[in-house]
Amino acid sequence: METRERRTNKTSGSNSEKHEETMGNGDVTEPDNKQGKVAMKRQVSLLSGIALIVGTMIGSGIFVSPKGVLRQTESVGMSLVIWFLCGVLSTIGALCYAELGTLIPKSGGEYSYILDTFGSPLAFLFAWVSTLLVRPSSVAIISLSFAEYVAAPFFGGECGPPDNIIKMFAAVCVILIVVINCASVKLATGVQNVFTVAKLLALVIIIIVGFIQLAQGNTQYLDPKTSFQGSTANVAAYGIAFYQGLWAYDGWNQLNYVTEELINPYRNLPLAIIIGIPMVTVLYLLVNISYFTVMSPEELLQSSAVAVTFGDRTLGVMAWIMPFFVACSTFGAANGTLFTGGRLAYVAAREGHMVEVLSMVHVKRFTPFPAMIFTAILSIAMLLPSDFDTLVNYFSFAAWMFYGITVSALLYLRYKWPDAHRPIKVPIVLPIIVLIAAVYLVIAPIIEEPALEFLYAFLFILSGLIFYLPFVFYKKELGCMKYLTVFLQLLFQVAPSKYVAP
Ligand code: ARG
Repeated sequence: METRERRTNKTSGSNSEKHEETMGNGDVTEPDNKQGKVAMKRQVSLLSGIALIVGTMIGSGIFVSPKGVLRQTESVGMSLVIWFLCGVLSTIGALCYAELGTLIPKSGGEYSYILDTFGSPLAFLFAWVSTLLVRPSSVAIISLSFAEYVAAPFFGGECGPPDNIIKMFAAVCVILIVVINCASVKLATGVQNVFTVAKLLALVIIIIVGFIQLAQGNTQYLDPKTSFQGSTANVAAYGIAFYQGLWAYDGWNQLNYVTEELINPYRNLPLAIIIGIPMVTVLYLLVNISYFTVMSPEELLQSSAVAVTFGDRTLGVMAWIMPFFVACSTFGAANGTLFTGGRLAYVAAREGHMVEVLSMVHVKRFTPFPAMIFTAILSIAMLLPSDFDTLVNYFSFAAWMFYGITVSALLYLRYKWPDAHRPIKVPIVLPIIVLIAAVYLVIAPIIEEPALEFLYAFLFILSGLIFYLPFVFYKKELGCMKYLTVFLQLLFQVAPSKYVAP
């Protein structure tokens, strides 16, 4: 308690107080002090925490990114090193987040930490970039991977299906998941659970077959003496390789979005991170090694869907299960990302950081209908003009800029609240490493390929401020917005959530 007072004095003006008294162990029910409503229950256990991290991280990347990482690093050995380092960086990032998550024990991840540390404008920019750029591009990237794998069996041959067909399949995927997510929360989470099994099965099959290949001596591409030959010397190319690899690891911060729902967070938050992320790292390394037991690096670079090529070479008549499971895995990932992405838009709107209609809930289905449809439309709009690599670049650029800002918050708080009680205090070098990595990741690809897309992304991020001043800070309302809101309310049958009793 004493610590709490010490802290809250220092954070006067922030609304972190109400969350702190509930940061105990066990099954605490938190009253939402504004409406006296029961808001949150601590029911996420260690196991569910690990499942949440692992389930979000594994999705599309491991079935698509090995090609991108290899293309940039130009050697098998170096690509495995990058996969390993991506795992290490994600673990370190997540440990820093564990310190933040237990110091500021609120749900909402980066948004809450940036709000408490740097104030409303930067938190608004985060919400702006997440809802308009990061989440929709994630959904688009995953849907494209889904489409690659669904289309691959119909278009044999090495060059794969035409782009337009892939985009069409991807758009169908987005439409399907938005229907699911608008229909019911139960359906959406049910789909999630079923498809999580598929992704683990896909990985386990690849790894087991890989072990059999290794036992048979198929190690010619994995010889440590030769596997580093030809590695690129271009420092910036490693930045892009990291983008590809880190895409597959993205999701390492997921648990921080539900800190308030975690049972015994001081213990379970770091534990879930220390178990979950290294586990994914080991799985990813083994899958990559398996790919190279049956494919030469050149063949991997030519394959449009690595796991399909892998299946074709090793599974005989059962080869169809590979595209099937990968399609399930990516579909599940797209579903989960829309689920959480839509809710981000919903929460931001509830805070007054987005237009009001996005914070409304369907009167019968209790789903954040407008936020879902909004996120889905943006996702489709993004996948039409661009391809997988461009989208991953956009995504990583924006995402790592904010991961960098978030660990800067950690460093700044060490200075601003030196005596605050930190149940988890990571060695100071960890946030420094993440910060350096983030700066490098944001800058290196711009130097490597000074593509306009980075400039666009940057301008887009800044343009958020133009909206912030009149609409958030001065709370100006455009006259036509009222009519539009009412029109959309009638169209979607939605109402502010406080009027919708589940
Ligand atoms: N790592 C995932 C994949 O490989 C993507 C995760 C997207 N991020 C998220 N927060 N859902 O597909």
